[in-house]
Amino acid sequence: MKMIHELETWYQTHKRDLPFRHTNDAYAIWVSEVMLQQTQMDTMVPYYVRFMNEFPTVHQLAEATLEHVLTLVQGIGYYRRFKLLHQGAKYIVETYEGTIPNQYDLVRNIPGVGDYTAGAIMSIAFDAPYAATDGNVIRVLSRYYGISTNLSLPKERKSLHVMHQHNIEHAQPNIYTQAVMELGALVCKPVQPKCSECPIQQTCYAYQHNQVDKLPQLEKKTKHVNLTFQTFVWIKHNRIALVKNSRSLLEGMYLLPQQEVDPLKIPLSSNVFKHVFSHQTWIMHVVEEEPPFFAKIEWFEWNRLSEIPIPVAHQKIIRTFLPTKK
Ligand code: ADE
Repeated sequence: MKMIHELETWYQTHKRDLPFRHTNDAYAIWVSEVMLQQTQMDTMVPYYVRFMNEFPTVHQLAEATLEHVLTLVQGIGYYRRFKLLHQGAKYIVETYEGTIPNQYDLVRNIPGVGDYTAGAIMSIAFDAPYAATDGNVIRVLSRYYGISTNLSLPKERKSLHVMHQHNIEHAQPNIYTQAVMELGALVCKPVQPKCSECPIQQTCYAYQHNQVDKLPQLEKKTKHVNLTFQTFVWIKHNRIALVKNSRSLLEGMYLLPQQEVDPLKIPLSSNVFKHVFSHQTWIMHVVEEEPPFFAKIEWFEWNRLSEIPIPVAHQKIIRTFLPTKK
């Protein structure tokens, strides 16, 4: 495939000279990938060099104490990964006499090695076609193919991973894997990407459709929250008091006057209504009186209510208080 070839050619001439790119020792690649998972390249490199000087082989890492290992990485953060790396090294020595197996399933079984690290070790160290999908890969491929689904969702990530896997089966795995990552780090950056320097710009969907800054879409999963309100039904003659909403949820709609209250402090009420939104549930304690707080009240006649936008959450309440037409 042309895109793969162009990426690989670009990588050969533009790749950074990094210490772990002078080896295909699976142990060294493993260490480098563990360090890069939560650490920027510039910060990571001196730690990597020191670590490999101290523990040049998996045997030396396995024989060290955890304290020794942690002292060496002091300051880099996310130390649990080094505890797992240390356990992984012991496992490799005990199970395989210190040789990392050249087989995906066995690599994936090493303590602390997940899908990404297994793919990275297989492709970079063993030049085998196993995709490693990280944030760089998600950004490059979502832009290139114009994938606008929410890539925070595991099932959407999985389908991008499948495309990456398909590509690597038609590529030089060692080069392709690092080419996509390198393009993501140097050119196809999260902000101010350098599209004019990109080797695959001509066939990039996002570039051609002016969507580079819209992709990838990574909408964070927002937690569902319960909100408790005291909600006021204030009726005079044939009119009801409503307030125009300015918040983003239901912006521009007319609501009954309401204020959020502590659910533990609200007096028991028999008039409780509930409405479930995608990320919020409203529990509304309804009282038939004038609201005690300042609000820009507007009055609407019964027979005009169908003309104005009122969210269903409050339509349900209003309906029960309207004088029934006979
Ligand atoms: N990020 C994680 N692994 C990388 C690699 N091998 N090259 C460039 N960036 C990376």
